[in-house]
Amino acid sequence: MFSGQLTFDWTEFPWGSDYYAEAGRMMPVDGLDQLRGFDAIYFGAVGWPSVPDHVSLWGLRLAICQGFDQWANIRPVHFLPGVQSPLRKADDISLDWIVVRENSEGEYSGLGGRNLAARGAGAEVALQTALFTEVGCERIIRFAFDLARTRDRVKLSSVTKSNAQQYGMVLWDDVFKRVSKDYPDVETESVLVDAMAAKFVLKPEDLSVVVASNLNADILSDLGSALAGSLGLASSANLNPEGRFPSMFEPVHGSAPDIAGQGVANPIGAIASAALMLEHFGLIDEAARVDAAISTVTGAGVLTQDIGGTATTDVVTEAIIDCLS
Ligand SMILES: NC(=O)c1ccc[n+]([C@@H]2O[C@H](COP(=O)([O-])OP(=O)(O)OC[C@H]3O[C@@H](n4cnc5c(N)ncnc54)[C@H](O)[C@@H]3O)[C@@H](O)[C@H]2O)c1
Repeated sequence: MFSGQLTFDWTEFPWGSDYYAEAGRMMPVDGLDQLRGFDAIYFGAVGWPSVPDHVSLWGLRLAICQGFDQWANIRPVHFLPGVQSPLRKADDISLDWIVVRENSEGEYSGLGGRNLAARGAGAEVALQTALFTEVGCERIIRFAFDLARTRDRVKLSSVTKSNAQQYGMVLWDDVFKRVSKDYPDVETESVLVDAMAAKFVLKPEDLSVVVASNLNADILSDLGSALAGSLGLASSANLNPEGRFPSMFEPVHGSAPDIAGQGVANPIGAIASAALMLEHFGLIDEAARVDAAISTVTGAGVLTQDIGGTATTDVVTEAIIDCLS
């Protein structure tokens, strides 16, 4: 790769829904121990109609993110040349923002339970509890402030639903206010998630870095990638910023069973995630080259069907590789 100046050692792990069919679990009992020694994890996507989604997600992706305390999930919303956005204003103005997702607690803490089913049909109850710790809020908010400082527009938007969720999300808001005092140079706003969804569509030019809880940022980042043209374009990094565990890089999208095996999936989200991994390794120029190759290829109109083209996954991938050599 890159004139032989840089090489990677890879180990592939066949963990996922096929593995589940054989082993009855999404990864081996010692899966995290097997991954622990790696510099990074490059993740595809998980999920298949044969396995309940909560089993596949908790058994693999969330097990890795939470087990390795990958508490910061970065999801850039990047508008590429040659890709038409459903937003008309994207033709006239430059749009580019980053969603920072709290990735270790919040609504995806797995706290709760189902009970009372023994009383008979119709009697079951379920509790799903969101967990907000001051430590968890503070570390992701500080991370997002630091990221905002690296951007042309030095602004951080915090998103909650603290009018309706008066405990965890009010704690988040309080921490945001407190931490913001340490960043007087960063412009801030606190926006409710429903209003932020509207803002993504109506006033995205006002966004730079958007920090939100696990669920809210998950939803907003899918909206962001759809506005950029397709879910197939969106990249992400699940970071353990302290470096105690390997970080994980993956496209935002899932396994797309509706188009699987047809050779039409957009590879850009996965390739752009590899660029985020290069950046994480400090290979800034190399990451920029990958991003530039993606832009060259979309700008030349080599597009998969989700963004209006006819090229296959392989054709787009080869075109990007050609731009790098
Ligand atoms: N990180 C993950 O591994 C992850 C994330 C989301 C969903 N999932 C799982 O994936 C499975 C399918 O879930 P879903 O359908 O809700 O979400 P999905 O992201 O797989 O698909 C949503 C829509 O986006 C399209 N799409 C996704 N990736 C694309 C690509 N690369 N190119 C073109 N179009 C693409 C799909 O065709 C589909 O129409 C489920 O089992 C779900 O649990 C996994």
